Amino acid sequence: MLPSHLNGHSPLARRRPRLSAASPPATGESEEEAAAAAPLAEHDRIYFQLYSHIGIHEAMIKDRVRTDAYRSAIMHHQKFIEGKVVMDVGCGTGILSVFCARAGAKRVYAVEASEIATQAREIVMANNLHDKIVVIHGRVEDVEVDDKVDVIISEWMGYMLLYESMLPSVLFARDKWLKPGGLILPSHAMLFMAPITNSERYESSVDFWSDVYGINMSALVPHAKKFASEEPSIEIIGGENVLSWPFVVKHIDCYIFKAEELKSITTKYKVSSMMLAPIHGFGFWFEVEFNGPSDPSDNSPSVLNPLNIIHKKRRRGSDDAVLLSTAPEDEPTHWHQTIVYFPDPIEVKQDQIIEGSVTVSQSEENPRFLNIQLDCSKCKIQYRQNIGL
Ligand SMILES: C[S@@+](CC[C@H](N)C(=O)[O-])C[C@H]1O[C@@H](n2cnc3c(N)ncnc32)[C@H](O)[C@@H]1O
Repeated sequence: MLPSHLNGHSPLARRRPRLSAASPPATGESEEEAAAAAPLAEHDRIYFQLYSHIGIHEAMIKDRVRTDAYRSAIMHHQKFIEGKVVMDVGCGTGILSVFCARAGAKRVYAVEASEIATQAREIVMANNLHDKIVVIHGRVEDVEVDDKVDVIISEWMGYMLLYESMLPSVLFARDKWLKPGGLILPSHAMLFMAPITNSERYESSVDFWSDVYGINMSALVPHAKKFASEEPSIEIIGGENVLSWPFVVKHIDCYIFKAEELKSITTKYKVSSMMLAPIHGFGFWFEVEFNGPSDPSDNSPSVLNPLNIIHKKRRRGSDDAVLLSTAPEDEPTHWHQTIVYFPDPIEVKQDQIIEGSVTVSQSEENPRFLNIQLDCSKCKIQYRQNIGL
């Protein structure tokens, strides 16, 4: 069962549509399009079913940080997009396709597997863009288009970047449909982690039970600790909660990345606490960049070491590529941050080293879900947590 914050009923949830063999084809759908659809795995059927609901699209579109970043990125690359062919992988309501058409794209293939494709078609018609945008109702893995494309755009990022595993579909589209030298938006993604302190949260969910309306309910404290640390929590923290410089768990270059690498990502981390404080757990968040392909001849350390990339990027001026950040110190987005809480806080001193390893892997039961295994030497904790189960 999905935890409540991820099951599509909570206002935090951003995901889920409907697509089944019995579904009627979207209005205007061709025979070939309907016939091309391969049978869906049950987890995919549920996934696309959830994305057919307007609520998810409303939450995403109302996230101005997200939607403005995509619009800015399209305008940033307008010279490249003008007169070109674009593929929007998972177009949803078609908003990014419309931005691309308005930026001068000659043709946009707007591919959407869920039934929101029907409304995307109506939106395209209502905005008189049906001569430019072709909405294709189907999985990008199953559809055929007339020509190779110059640009692939997609909003594929889930909680903690990788939850819901949509990136492999974008990489599939890249390998099958992108012309050499083409543009991928976003182009690069980085998953970060850092130890966090959050006494307020700990007190409100654990210490709370010590005195409830004058009643000693401490018997519930062990349950509260277990509950708080059982599943990752999707919540907003601030820069003040972060105890160290962020550590890069994974840097993804969408021009060259291979989907197989997503099955299991293991990283050894080592950070230094910036202050004396209790660590309550680790926070995860991500950034994506909207750049052209990296220059393969650039072997400078800044390209090879993701940490250096971050520092360089942070110094860039406004002429540089657009960045979409879900970091605690930046404006909140609907992705919030993902927090893995410990059952008990651990005190650390200023400059104390905290190290260990983290593995983020696709769940075997449902590859759209993630397992997180965190090993923290200082904290002597090794456990497994699922997002989504
Ligand atoms: C995060 S939403 C983004 C929607 C829209 N691009 C936007 O920015 O508002 C991702 C969309 O991709 C669709 N999708 C996911 N995997 C897909 C696939 N393999 N083929 C086609 N559509 C897919 C989902 O149904 C969902 O509507």
